[in-house]
Amino acid sequence: MKRLTSFFMAAAMAFAGYANVTYQVIPLPRSVNMEPGGNVVLLVKGMSVAYPAENAKMLRNAQFAQEYLGVIPEVASKKSKAIMKISLGLQNPNPDAYTITINKKGINIQGASESGVFYAIQTLRKSIEGEKGDTIRLPYVTIQDEPRFGYRGAMLDCARHFFPVEFVKQYIDVLALHGVNKFHWHLTDDQGWRFEVKALPELAKKAGYRPHTIIGKNVGLRDAANAIFDDTPEEGYYTQNQMKAIVEYAAERYITVIPEIDLPGHMVAALSVYPELGCTGGPYSVWCQWGISDDVLCAGNPKTLDFLKKVYGELCDVFPSKFIHIGGDESPRRKWQTCPKCQAKMKELGLTKEAELQTYINKEMEKFLAEKGRELIGWDETLEGGLSENATVMSWRGYKGGIEAARQHHRVIMTPHDNCYVDYYQLKDRYAQPLAIGGYLPVSKVYSMEPIPAELTPEEGKYIMGAQCNLWTEYVESPDQAMYMLLPRLAAMSEVQWMLPEAKNYENFCKRLPLLQQAYRRLGYKYCTAIE
Ligand code: ACM
Ligand code: ZN
Repeated sequence: MKRLTSFFMAAAMAFAGYANVTYQVIPLPRSVNMEPGGNVVLLVKGMSVAYPAENAKMLRNAQFAQEYLGVIPEVASKKSKAIMKISLGLQNPNPDAYTITINKKGINIQGASESGVFYAIQTLRKSIEGEKGDTIRLPYVTIQDEPRFGYRGAMLDCARHFFPVEFVKQYIDVLALHGVNKFHWHLTDDQGWRFEVKALPELAKKAGYRPHTIIGKNVGLRDAANAIFDDTPEEGYYTQNQMKAIVEYAAERYITVIPEIDLPGHMVAALSVYPELGCTGGPYSVWCQWGISDDVLCAGNPKTLDFLKKVYGELCDVFPSKFIHIGGDESPRRKWQTCPKCQAKMKELGLTKEAELQTYINKEMEKFLAEKGRELIGWDETLEGGLSENATVMSWRGYKGGIEAARQHHRVIMTPHDNCYVDYYQLKDRYAQPLAIGGYLPVSKVYSMEPIPAELTPEEGKYIMGAQCNLWTEYVESPDQAMYMLLPRLAAMSEVQWMLPEAKNYENFCKRLPLLQQAYRRLGYKYCTAIE
């Protein structure tokens, strides 16, 4: 084996100057120092990767290396002649940090934790995308890397359109390719309930179905009489076993699944099954059009909290995530203003504004989640009646909510729609792309996002945990269309999430993008080829 390795090293010299690999991947590592001289390590199919014994996560990482690089996992030992070695022990407080050293000793990857090793393998995987054949030439290099933010998110709305389990897994694969570590899963909305609740067996079965969907642009409830609907039922929900499998699949890729059950608004699908939970008692039916419904959960009915606790109890059983998203957005308070139960509740609690009723529900949910060791995230509307004590705010209507929350010393995830809503059009020419909800968010605008607003003090800025892009799916009907909306805007978002702002450079990003697009094509991901 030793002689064989020497042979490869000798061969390496002969290949000097021919290596294509430059390690200029997306997101770009913090430092890439290539050694001058053109030396390379030759990685040949069938060589080994050594991983520390009795570490199942490192074995899994070695298996990822096998999948991407063709190396065979073996337990590390003194005798090991493996060309590639993965280990822990890098001294860096950032668990996602890693180093890659490629020199005459081979390929050495060290992570601050297992996730760091995973990201190192992703970096190598992306670096070699342009290589063909069984031999990969890896130029000598030292790479040091760590992401800027601990929260690097992407959301998928599976309520407006249902996406099959296999696609959800593919979505997770795509996130992993981009160094994203939080998958925010929007599971319920007016147009569909996708989360199986065992204690409420009718819920997903009935509310996961709508007979048809409005065609074309949303005209809203007021014009529904004039709307034209298709005749295609939209149907589906995830069983708890399926969701647990997705959680596990994501965890292997160092991605936490953060589920969202949106309350108290965006609840019409649930109300269609339990009309007594609405202020008027209904009847309600699962929405077949888009927009914001005035019909929300009744805040004065004690059955509402019983219902929510059943749902969230099971949600916590399925999803181990510390953070649970309670939604809280776009919940009109009109019905509460005239509902005797809601008004009586306000009187009982001494509240003067309906917005405070929403805070009351949030506080009840916060208590319930805290008993299970969980914390809540809500959209920035949750600021309006006062935040519950430990709430994290997801700022979507711009930066303002996030700034206000950070100043109140609440944690924040920045996802302002102008920079982060990948359901918006990505090209100026609307006829060059599928129908979308509106807006205009080109790749360059995603790239320009800075999650920590300049008006925050450094101390306040620490409350910004990271950034996220959101894929709402009112107008996104298929997996291919979802990918087209996401890519390559997610690539731009990944540099927002990963890189230091002073290192970001849009022109340079555009030069590095073709290599990543090559991966998209090889993996069969649809993407928008035009860049604006
Ligand atoms: C949202 O876009 N309604 C959070
Ligand atoms: Zn009410």
